[in-house]
Amino acid sequence: MGDNERLLANEAPAFSRAARVKYYNIVIRSGKGAVVTDVDGNDYIGLLASASSTNTGHAHPHVVKAIQDQAARLIQYTAAYFATENEAKLAPRLAALAPISGPKALAWGNSGSDANDAIIKFSRAYTGRPNIVSFTGAYHGSTYGSQTLSAVSLNMSRKIGPMLPGVVKVPFPDPWKRLKGETDDAFVDRMFAAFKLPFETYLPAEETAAILIEPIQGDGGIVKAPQKFMEKIYKFAHDNGILFAVDEVNQGMGRTGKWWSIENFGLEPDLMSVGKSLASGMPLSAVIGRQEIMDSLGAPGHLFTTAGNPITTAAAMATIDVIEDEHLIERSAKLGKRAEKFFRDEREKFPFIGDIRMYGLNGGIDIIDPETGKPDADATTKIIYRVFELGAIIISLKTNVLRFQPPLVITDEQLEKAFAILNQAFTDLAAGKLSLPDNAAEMGW
Ligand SMILES: Cc1ncc(COP(=O)(O)O)c(C=O)c1O
Repeated sequence: MGDNERLLANEAPAFSRAARVKYYNIVIRSGKGAVVTDVDGNDYIGLLASASSTNTGHAHPHVVKAIQDQAARLIQYTAAYFATENEAKLAPRLAALAPISGPKALAWGNSGSDANDAIIKFSRAYTGRPNIVSFTGAYHGSTYGSQTLSAVSLNMSRKIGPMLPGVVKVPFPDPWKRLKGETDDAFVDRMFAAFKLPFETYLPAEETAAILIEPIQGDGGIVKAPQKFMEKIYKFAHDNGILFAVDEVNQGMGRTGKWWSIENFGLEPDLMSVGKSLASGMPLSAVIGRQEIMDSLGAPGHLFTTAGNPITTAAAMATIDVIEDEHLIERSAKLGKRAEKFFRDEREKFPFIGDIRMYGLNGGIDIIDPETGKPDADATTKIIYRVFELGAIIISLKTNVLRFQPPLVITDEQLEKAFAILNQAFTDLAAGKLSLPDNAAEMGW
């Protein structure tokens, strides 16, 4: 028995199955750049970036030094009572990066989930209205509020209701809802009609505080809403005094080849949530919004003892330095184009590759049954498991979408090696050489 197995057996009796979507039986010990190493010493090229929370890679020296230096100075003093040095410097720097014109302000949190809870709180407080609209396919987090906003897995509402009142879900305009032969405009019109239906039948717009959207859904399959749809809901929000809020937890911090995914649409949010890669994976999040919205709640309406902690904010300052100094946003855009070409070339050879969506170094690749065009969950599991065996970590979304989100610092050689591994897995699947791993039934979303 190796150390991976030994430690997993050690953990198993003490660990809730609600707390992990399972993939491979490894225990990760260390990471450097785009490579992670397990406790048995196996190296993997990471194509997941710790769920898009390490855009600057693992153990970036500048981030490590910032954390180490700060740990020696002060590990914690709560920003809930006194400003601390790093967070006081970071607040205006981060707010300035937000794509919101005019005065803006922020509040700290510990997770993307609580940043989305903050969107509920601040939008209700500012508008004096109770209802929030979010989208099917969304993952907004795991607190009661953010889990209520989500709609990507039945396990997120199964057995735990009642959920937060005042949340209404409308369909996200993802390509799987598209009818055969439907034009882009007809699709947008149909999806916008579905969006408006609640407002026309039971949801008074004047009682709606916010529309919250992932402009590019992450866990929903890496899928971008059509530009015209976004413009229509944006206009609808503004025409009706509803705040337009975006979740940038997964797709922000350079992931899409821009600082923020909403910048791909040229629209300005009223409120936005940020987390994950903000502090290179240290637990720091923020809700950022127009100042008058952020002034609508009084203390202690949204504070946490450890939010804006000295170490996490030091890590965030260093993370922003790295993204700027190493031009990671440009790199994301450039490598994303290369990855898109790779997957398109593979699709010429392998008809089980369906739709390819790539926005920066950030892709969702559908695996389908070539005969029917329908999702092929088994083929997807075989591919990701083969990729794992060959030394890279990739996971699936929605049962049949390859989630391709390497750290933005991945080297050219590592990326080429990852392509070679993926090509080998595709080749093996096409040759009928792959079977399902023993734990296939418990793997994935
Ligand atoms: C878009 C989005 N929002 C919010 C969250 C929740 O973030 P956290 O897990 O840090 O609470 C996630 C996590 O996957 C996410 O992808």
